[in-house]
Amino acid sequence: MLTAVILAAGKGTRMRSDDPKVLFEAAGRPVIDYVLDAARGCGADKIIVVVGNGADAVMNHAEAADVVFCTQSSQRGTADAVKAALPAIPDEGRVLILCGDMPLISSATLSDFITKSDSRVNFISVKTDNPSGYGRVVRTPAGGVLKIVEEKDANCNEKKIGEVNAGVYICSSEELKERIGKIDDNNAQNEFYLTDIVSGGASAYCAEDEREFMGVNDRAQLAAVSKILWRRRADAFMKEGVSLLDPDAFYCDADVKIGRDTVIYPNVFIEKESCIGGRCRIFPGVRITASVIEDGCVIKDNTFIEGSTVGESSSVGPMAHLRPGSVLTGGNKIGNFVETKKTVMGYGSKASHLTYLGDAELGRDVNVGCGTITCNYDGFSKHRTVVGDGVFIGSDVQLVAPVNVGRGALIAAGTTVTKDVPEDALAISRTSQENKEGMGKAITERNKAGRS
Ligand code: UD1
Ligand code: CA
Repeated sequence: MLTAVILAAGKGTRMRSDDPKVLFEAAGRPVIDYVLDAARGCGADKIIVVVGNGADAVMNHAEAADVVFCTQSSQRGTADAVKAALPAIPDEGRVLILCGDMPLISSATLSDFITKSDSRVNFISVKTDNPSGYGRVVRTPAGGVLKIVEEKDANCNEKKIGEVNAGVYICSSEELKERIGKIDDNNAQNEFYLTDIVSGGASAYCAEDEREFMGVNDRAQLAAVSKILWRRRADAFMKEGVSLLDPDAFYCDADVKIGRDTVIYPNVFIEKESCIGGRCRIFPGVRITASVIEDGCVIKDNTFIEGSTVGESSSVGPMAHLRPGSVLTGGNKIGNFVETKKTVMGYGSKASHLTYLGDAELGRDVNVGCGTITCNYDGFSKHRTVVGDGVFIGSDVQLVAPVNVGRGALIAAGTTVTKDVPEDALAISRTSQENKEGMGKAITERNKAGRS
């Protein structure tokens, strides 16, 4: 029986925030989620999350079948947090203690640590050139672990020690219960330090990759950790055949898929289980969230696509906005300053410039002219516009919904369509033009004279 205890009650003072630290997003995902995954991945049978600061928010977020919560009512240190978890820790088995603020920890490292730990108390240490902020591991001349000294309690010599405490421990439930009761708050911060659990004998498991143990204590560390997570994802995609012009400027959530031979320019965000096909080209400044982009699409600069599907071989942007419920069937073109919402476009249909299509259904090979607007909202409710196959809509047309345009119809530029258009008809609604000879010049001259 392995119980994981995740400490997540701390005040997170260094974040300078009203929100609990463990819910801050590192590379698009709350910090605690990574730690929960790592605990699950190394085989924890039960997970106890100690909550305190922002308890309700943390509990709402982390609620799951294998998670129980214990409340630490005042934040008096990491040992005090473990004390709060004791009632939920079974008497038998082993206890793995993790900090909720270390999102880079991997389950592989944890599994190795668990397997190799055979002392009564074991913790992970790591060697680093920059130990600042971490507890230093002080060893006896013989090389055994003497104690862990926190930065604030360390003397000059101790501060120079390059081996630090990663904040991960494993011991038997019995040993934990015995040792935790003996810890006092006699230190610089008047806190109960979990690190004191090593007094009385402990072994350090020296981990290789110091980056895995970076804690998120302030916003600079949050940024540093996020960068590492994004870079890991970038490296994984490059291995799978995705080209990234700048892998350090690629911002992708963990649950995203991207096909081979897709090329991605810098500063692209791909979020929330989005799925990008193969042979796509995604230009700078694009954000794609909760969307599917099929094979062979081009998404041009500064386009935002949310909750939408872009069918194969389509081109979207630059500066287009596909809002939720937009479905491009394939072979479509959405040009600059075009916005769509809850709109289905049949194969090959195009809206190349300055257009709003909302609550609309367009057939195949429809041409939507520049400046077309579906007037879908009457101030009370939304109405649909249905346009048949092969319709040609001229520039500056308003389609006042609800309205249907039959297949093959032609709508003249400048028309306000307020009633249904039959198949193959021409719809035109505009006053006929008059030309008044010489009047342009006359008005201009009158205006000039008025000014002087
Ligand atoms: C802690 C360790 C330090 C180690 C470092 C690794 C102690 C005293 N120090 O320092 O040796 O090098 O982690 O990252 O343990 N928490 C509570 N309740 C509290 C205080 C903290 O639940 O009363 C939680 C926090 O939410 C956090 C975790 O415990 O997730 C660690 O606390 P934090 O204040 O970040 O400890 P560090 O100063 O980083
Ligand atoms: Ca920390």
